[in-house]
Amino acid sequence: MIRVEGLYKSFENKTVLSDINVVFDSGKVNLIIGKSGSGKTVLLKSLIGLHSIDTGHIFYGTRDISLMSARQVKAIREEIGVVFQGGALFDSLSVLENVKFPLNLFSSLSEKEKTERARFCLRRVNLMQDADNLYPAEISGGMKKRVAIARAIVLQPKFLFCDEPNSGLDPLTSIVIDNLIEEITHEYDMTTIVNTHDMNSVFEIGEKIVFIHEGRKEWEGTKEEIAHTENKNLNDFIFSSKLYKKIKASL
Ligand SMILES: Nc1ncnc2c1ncn2[C@@H]1O[C@H](COP(=O)(O)OP(=O)(O)O)[C@@H](O)[C@H]1O
Ligand SMILES: [Mg+2]
Repeated sequence: MIRVEGLYKSFENKTVLSDINVVFDSGKVNLIIGKSGSGKTVLLKSLIGLHSIDTGHIFYGTRDISLMSARQVKAIREEIGVVFQGGALFDSLSVLENVKFPLNLFSSLSEKEKTERARFCLRRVNLMQDADNLYPAEISGGMKKRVAIARAIVLQPKFLFCDEPNSGLDPLTSIVIDNLIEEITHEYDMTTIVNTHDMNSVFEIGEKIVFIHEGRKEWEGTKEEIAHTENKNLNDFIFSSKLYKKIKASL
């Protein structure tokens, strides 16, 4: 579980996040949704300690990272896997080397064990051994996301963060990636947080949904509740397309 209390974040004079209070549940896919520019990425980076926050608290279980030394934060980072927007693979490393990279930094495994662990994770995301020696430029967008997910889970994290994992993917591949994230969340009992503005994801994998509007948490609930929300900003966001307006009318 990750609990956020009274979080504020600004850049110079611009307040980006105001008084965020939220609990992200263990063993679930928690979605942070909202328009582009609403503050999702800044929130995610604040949660993982890549942005310092102005005020507030971020608890990983009972551990408050806002009160920790750099060394203690580093220990928590080792429990965190991140799929950055666009995948953020190293272009000069092969698929297998990308997935081994965190093991080289943080594990004391032998070379053979590292390769075995990396291959295990690649298999888990349905990438077969013939992809091992390809470079990011040689693989499709969907494959890149799979490699990024394999790399994110290679250290067996308790917490998995994904920033817009569907960006740049076609709708079918997006659903495959969403389902993969949901499956591994349950399989490895992780606390997963996914930023998205993709409504398909909301209805596909939204176990707990948190809606951010202009840097404030405006609503939280389940995908069953979201279709009946009376929050105007949320309604405008979800049912902005004609298709979703039609679906709503038929509910
Ligand atoms: N490093 C930064 N310096 C100044 N402003 C920033 C920085 N990063 C993000 N912002 C601003 O914070 C707001 C929220 O951005 P972001 O979290 O990236 O939105 P989202 O991920 O929801 O699209 C935007 O107005 C953006 O311009
Ligand atoms: Mg973003």
